[in-house]
Amino acid sequence: MRIVLLGAPGSGKGTQSKLIMERYKIPQISTGDLLRAAVAAETPLGQQAKAAMDAGQLVPDDIVLGMIRERLAMPDTERGYILDGFPRNLNQARSLDDMLADLNQPLDVALLIDVDFEVLMQRLTGRLTCASCGAVFNKFTHPPRQENVCDLCGGELQHRADDNEETIGNRLKVYETQTQPLVEYYQDKGLLKSVKGEGEIEDIFNAVSRILQESGGEA
Ligand code: AP5
Ligand code: MG
Repeated sequence: MRIVLLGAPGSGKGTQSKLIMERYKIPQISTGDLLRAAVAAETPLGQQAKAAMDAGQLVPDDIVLGMIRERLAMPDTERGYILDGFPRNLNQARSLDDMLADLNQPLDVALLIDVDFEVLMQRLTGRLTCASCGAVFNKFTHPPRQENVCDLCGGELQHRADDNEETIGNRLKVYETQTQPLVEYYQDKGLLKSVKGEGEIEDIFNAVSRILQESGGEA
């Protein structure tokens, strides 16, 4: 099953992706994670992307589209995938449609995780991510059992460089102006489903699973 996950920064795309990945045995493809890996490895692509990410702006489309094209060609995408944080503007969405038409792999669903803007700042300033396995925690809402240690693998928990108030403000503005129009884009295509992203993570995942089941997903 091929899924686009839509939602503002901090809405829980990464958190829900991990759960979907486990149940449906399909990979999570997060352009944010791919870009952060490139920045950490100091590749030419990472060097190009870093300034935009630090400022909370979008990385140029040609970089992101090249990355996605390469990733979708890998064999683990055969049973489908979760696109987390991609597409992020209309140009990316149209380019994705063209790519998937060439591959004869239509999307099954575009799922919006809907969270009120006031909630997002606290979620993002409190986020902690495991440097080893990528598990996501939150100082305020979902703390690890032991400070700065991952519950799942014992790895070190890190704070993301773009999770400071100023950058978060920019990321939210960019979401409103550039990414939110995709809600209507996928609605017009009859692919949009929406879930309220507030409350217990498990309850949200149950709602997500119901929608994926209705959209043809097989666990
Ligand atoms: P990206 O990494 O995609 O960041 P984002 O969209 O800002 O989204 P986040 O990862 O911050 O939030 P999330 O929805 O995954 O939330 P999470 O599950 O972690 O992008 C980063 C940057 O890369 C962009 O700014 C841009 O520069 C660049 N980029 C990426 N893709 C691009 C593209 N396609 N084109 C151009 N540029 C691109 O949850 C957040 C926190 O909330 C966690 O602490 C979690 O524990 C907590 N939480 C989750 N669910 C709940 C709940 N139900 N209740 C309470 N707390 C919860
Ligand atoms: Mg994320």
